[in-house]
Amino acid sequence: MGIVKCISIRRIFSGAAIVLAFAGLSFAAQGKKVATVSIAPTPEQYAVQPQPLTASQCAQCHTGPFQGLKDSGGRHQFACQNCHNVFHAYSPRKGNYDAIMPKCASCHDAPHGAKITDCMTCHFNPHTPKKIAAKAPITNFCYDCHGAVRKQLDTLPSKHTKVACVTCHTSHGFKPSCFTCHKPHVAGQTVAQCLQCHPVHQPRNIVFDTKTPSNTCSTCHSAIVTKLSKGTSKHAALTCVTCHKGTHRFIPQCTDCHGKPHNTLFHEKYPRCLSCHIDVHDLPVMKPKTK
Ligand code: HEC
Ligand code: HEC
Ligand code: HEC
Ligand code: HEC
Ligand code: HEC
Ligand code: HEC
Ligand code: HEC
Ligand code: HEC
Ligand code: HEC
Ligand code: HEC
Ligand code: HEC
Ligand code: HEC
Repeated sequence: MGIVKCISIRRIFSGAAIVLAFAGLSFAAQGKKVATVSIAPTPEQYAVQPQPLTASQCAQCHTGPFQGLKDSGGRHQFACQNCHNVFHAYSPRKGNYDAIMPKCASCHDAPHGAKITDCMTCHFNPHTPKKIAAKAPITNFCYDCHGAVRKQLDTLPSKHTKVACVTCHTSHGFKPSCFTCHKPHVAGQTVAQCLQCHPVHQPRNIVFDTKTPSNTCSTCHSAIVTKLSKGTSKHAALTCVTCHKGTHRFIPQCTDCHGKPHNTLFHEKYPRCLSCHIDVHDLPVMKPKTK
């Protein structure tokens, strides 16, 4: 009879509406049917505190965003709700789609300066933030972020200066092989070797590595390569770049390596070494070689 007791207390202290509500409850509790069906209450279902959905639970329905974040999310690999603090709230009637979508500006300032805005034109998918569209507008902005490259191309103009960045860099960060567009000078040359001689943004700024083999020169200077290798003097053992070191077309002086080997009067009278030694690539050998 606890409920009846309760009612009587309420009757004393409360208004009539509460009295009626409690009266109804007491009838229900006493088994009086108020619905046309019977469903047994299961209050234990409600004795828990619901947890926010995890990313993988969202993914049971939204495979695309999850897969994007999983494969290429980078530093965006955190809980969906960090960005989507409002979701499942879109209503065509309200036309609120854009309003409920997360905004880059709520977490980022202007990382590329005031000139570059409209984040999603380049970062086209927030779930794969480092994937960048290789079409406009990024093509208009290469120089803003890579000014040094533009400078390289301009300070030493070459035929690459006239090639558009995206003709080579077909997607952002992609670095093409020289062989997409060129043949090697000699078989077996690697891209790493090409780059040793030709800095790609200044391909005419040719600098020889000290280990460059002489066959590299043979496509264009085959006569000299053959002559030198067939000679019998000690120069035959040298590589081209031992003498022609540094930049292409550099011509060394004999005295760089030999100083002045003959007596001073002799050198004063005959200043040109090659008037006697004739051909640097095929020195006449004065002494018979000891075998
Ligand atoms: C809820 C906050 C939040 C929102 C909204 C957000 N970001 Fe981020 N973003 C971050 C955090 C945090 C990082 C990691 C920063 C760090 O490590 O310094 C990050 C990193 C990034 C990175 C670098 C990714 C990497 O792996 O290096 C890019 C690019 C980026 N965000 C672009 C965007 C763009 C574009 C938008 C809008 C479409 C956006 N973000 C919206 C929080 C956010
Ligand atoms: C860094 C912030 C960020 C994170 C983290 C993030 N989203 Fe998004 N999401 C966005 C933004 C911004 C948009 C709006 C894109 C647009 O306007 O095209 C979006 C759009 C969506 C959309 C609607 C468009 C679509 O692609 O279908 C869904 C669904 C979605 N996100 C699900 C998720 C799920 C699921 C997760 C977690 C697994 C998640 N998002 C994590 C920022 C985020
Ligand atoms: C049981 C399936 C299901 C789960 C789980 C689910 N969603 Fe959705 N979600 C939908 C459906 C259905 C739509 C509406 C159709 C659509 O846009 O694909 C939707 C739409 C969205 C949208 C775009 C429209 C809007 O109103 O926001 C976002 C963003 C979104 N969900 C985010 C999430 C996030 C974040 C989670 C996890 C916290 C999540 N969803 C969990 C089914 C689900
Ligand atoms: C014109 C294209 C373009 C636009 C527009 C653009 N970004 Fe970027 N963003 C890039 C590129 C390219 C990278 C470098 C990606 C890489 O590291 O490979 C980048 C990198 C980032 C990074 C990572 C920076 C770091 O130091 O790791 C963040 C964060 C970022 N962008 C946020 C934004 C936000 C926010 C906006 C809008 C205000 C925006 N971006 C607009 C092209 C763009
Ligand atoms: C918003 C700034 C931004 C814009 C615009 C941008 N880049 Fe980048 N780019 C970056 C950042 C940041 C990196 C990664 C850091 C780095 O290596 O310099 C990067 C990396 C690269 C790399 C790879 C570098 C390496 O060492 O692996 C190439 C190639 C590249 N960008 C080419 C381009 C081209 C071509 C364009 C124009 C179509 C362009 N970028 C536009 C910011 C930008
Ligand atoms: C003829 C093809 C070609 C053109 C044109 C070209 N690049 Fe490159 N770029 C390359 C190659 C190949 C590499 C890789 C070089 C390496 O690995 O040393 C590279 C490397 C880069 C790098 C990373 C290394 C560095 O030097 O910082 C950036 C950034 C870059 N290019 C930006 C640009 C931009 C911006 C333009 C246009 C102004 C451009 N490139 C034009 C072929 C090209
Ligand atoms: C996307 C195509 C492309 C790629 C990749 C490329 N080039 Fe070129 N390169 C060209 C074009 C086009 C020319 C001009 C050809 C002509 O007019 O005969 C050129 C010219 C040159 C020249 C002559 C420059 C001059 O001004 O005389 C050199 C040297 C060169 N490339 C070296 C390289 C090297 C080394 C690589 C790799 C690191 C490379 N290229 C990658 C397209 C490319
Ligand atoms: C040891 C240095 C060296 C190496 C390695 C090298 N080159 Fe060259 N390359 C040169 C020289 C020197 C020239 C001639 C420049 C001149 O005409 O002034 C040249 C010219 C070129 C030219 C201009 C067109 C021509 O044939 O005259 C292209 C294209 C070229 N090289 C591409 C390449 C490629 C691709 C590779 C790698 C497979 C490569 N080079 C490796 C030194 C080198
Ligand atoms: C792709 C062709 C090519 C390659 C490879 C090449 N050269 Fe040349 N080289 C030339 C051209 C073209 C000239 C200019 C010829 C002229 O003016 O008659 C030249 C000129 C020279 C000259 C003479 C400069 C002068 O003032 O007369 C030297 C020295 C030279 N090259 C050395 C080398 C060496 C050493 C190598 C190999 C490490 C090499 N070259 C590879 C094309 C090439
Ligand atoms: C980069 C250095 C270098 C340059 C430049 C150079 N030589 Fe030599 N030369 C050598 C070396 C190394 C030898 C071998 C010395 C030895 O084995 O004792 C040599 C040997 C010789 C010999 C002896 C040949 C023999 O087979 O006994 C003569 C003669 C000679 N050089 C003349 C010249 C003349 C003339 C010039 C200029 C046209 C010249 N050299 C430029 C490095 C050089
Ligand atoms: C011992 C040093 C030395 C070596 C090794 C050497 N050269 Fe020379 N080269 C010279 C000198 C010195 C001259 C200038 C000769 C003159 O003034 O007539 C020259 C001139 C040249 C010239 C321009 C004049 C001409 O004859 O066409 C070319 C091209 C050349 N060398 C290419 C090569 C090549 C390719 C190799 C390797 C096969 C090579 N040289 C090896 C020292 C050397
Ligand atoms: C008038 C001719 C003449 C002139 C000019 C000349 N040489 Fe010689 N040089 C010779 C003769 C001859 C020999 C051989 C001597 C011997 O075999 O004992 C020789 C030998 C050499 C040798 C080899 C020495 C050895 O011990 O094997 C070198 C190195 C050499 N000359 C360098 C030079 C240089 C460098 C110049 C210019 C600065 C030069 N020569 C000018 C005639 C000349």
